[in-house]
Amino acid sequence: MRIGVIGAGYVGLVTGACFAEAGISVLCGDIDDTKVSCLKLGEMPIYEPGLAELVRKNVDTGRLDFTTNLTEIVRTTDVIFIAVGTPSNRDGSANIRNILEVSRIIGAEMREEKIVVTKSTVPVGTSQEIRETIENLSSIPVHVCSNPEFLREGSAISDFINPDRVILGVASKFAESRLKDLYGSFMKNTDAIMVMDLASAEMTKYAANAMLATRISFINSIAALCKEKNADIQMVRKGIGTDCRIGLDYLNPGAGYGGSCFSKDMKALIKMMSDLNLDPSILLAVEEQNEHQKTLLHHEVVGRLGNDLTGKKIAIWGLSFKPNTDDMREAPSLVTIEALLEHGASVSAHDPRALEEARRRFGMRISFCEDQYEALNDASALVVHTEWDCYRHPDFERVKSNMRKPIVVDGRNLYDPDWLVSKGLEYYSAVSSETNYERTE
Ligand SMILES: NC(=O)c1ccc[n+]([C@@H]2O[C@H](COP(=O)([O-])OP(=O)(O)OC[C@H]3O[C@@H](n4cnc5c(N)ncnc54)[C@H](O)[C@@H]3O)[C@@H](O)[C@H]2O)c1
Repeated sequence: MRIGVIGAGYVGLVTGACFAEAGISVLCGDIDDTKVSCLKLGEMPIYEPGLAELVRKNVDTGRLDFTTNLTEIVRTTDVIFIAVGTPSNRDGSANIRNILEVSRIIGAEMREEKIVVTKSTVPVGTSQEIRETIENLSSIPVHVCSNPEFLREGSAISDFINPDRVILGVASKFAESRLKDLYGSFMKNTDAIMVMDLASAEMTKYAANAMLATRISFINSIAALCKEKNADIQMVRKGIGTDCRIGLDYLNPGAGYGGSCFSKDMKALIKMMSDLNLDPSILLAVEEQNEHQKTLLHHEVVGRLGNDLTGKKIAIWGLSFKPNTDDMREAPSLVTIEALLEHGASVSAHDPRALEEARRRFGMRISFCEDQYEALNDASALVVHTEWDCYRHPDFERVKSNMRKPIVVDGRNLYDPDWLVSKGLEYYSAVSSETNYERTE
């Protein structure tokens, strides 16, 4: 069996590389010819731990190749995974233009029976639309399936290879058995493959992301109350998270959720519900809380240094929306930086992997440092945005001596406030009651 993957982004690239690693021949395609040329040379367009090695290894063995020729994919592969982007429309709905464009190419170019599998997150009913689009252009049988992806950037390869579950939305036994074979080639526990109808599979992805986003907004709301009541949110988190009905995951208070998926998928879900006159108020509240959460860190800075930050430099540690990725889509750091610039501050930023992406977004508007301590030189405050390992145990003597004012705004609860204060730094947190220590001046 040879498989094709259309869309070589975070999802498509990981999918292609992991199937190739399982011994399957994979042809991965994208409309972005710069991306494809880079990939052919073994250069990665994104940072994802372990991905470069996996791609290069499988390219070298000849199991993985890249192309911009989507017709070649349709003609030479048996199973085609669609992993193109599904961004938001203005009204919040998911834009499935890319999906339909690919479907038209498949319909026009297929010469024999195909299995077409959607990995992209798409509104309920899209599989049906894909099938109709293909069938309008071809009378050859096509089996359209929905196989939503649950990988997390930063641990995408292990998530893909050892998934909690694989959701297969299918409408034919033939497709079900081929896809089970495919996943069975690397999954230890094939009992985790769940077969369901197409609409349920499409819905499962949205419901999962909405649940996770809800947990984050929930814990951030509780953290705000803890701060007012002098309760320790970390203890409360442990206190509730050890209840096996609740669990600890996605209950870390912080600067709000970011990334390409949560907000986009929440908006799409809200639109789907509103279109059906169903009440999306729970989802709206989750999104609203998150937007508010993203503003808290710059408010901590302004609360301490005043509204006019002209002539003041603020250092940012961490730009990506979470550690171990260079992805800055919807990252809370974007909100903080824009707000600081509006208040007149200059911003110097460090991130282990996202500097190139940040340069693309901010150009000359902020300065970038390859060294995390260099970013602190003459800074009036440090805002820690992303919990990369290199920020967990910094040399606080160096932090203090480099800064004009030793003010730390801890957006991810990384530090022990008492320890920081004992070292002569000021500690502020948007989500911890341990804040507003005596000023250092
Ligand atoms: N990133 C994640 O963590 C994640 C996780 C699960 C699901 N998803 C979903 O997977 C889908 C892809 O997400 P992503 O993060 O990989 O996006 P991405 O932007 O990283 O990659 C999408 C790729 O598709 C290509 N593309 C767009 N239109 C195309 C076309 N017509 N033909 C060929 N290629 C085309 C783009 O050039 C790009 O390389 C989205 O629906 C997303 O919601 C993403």
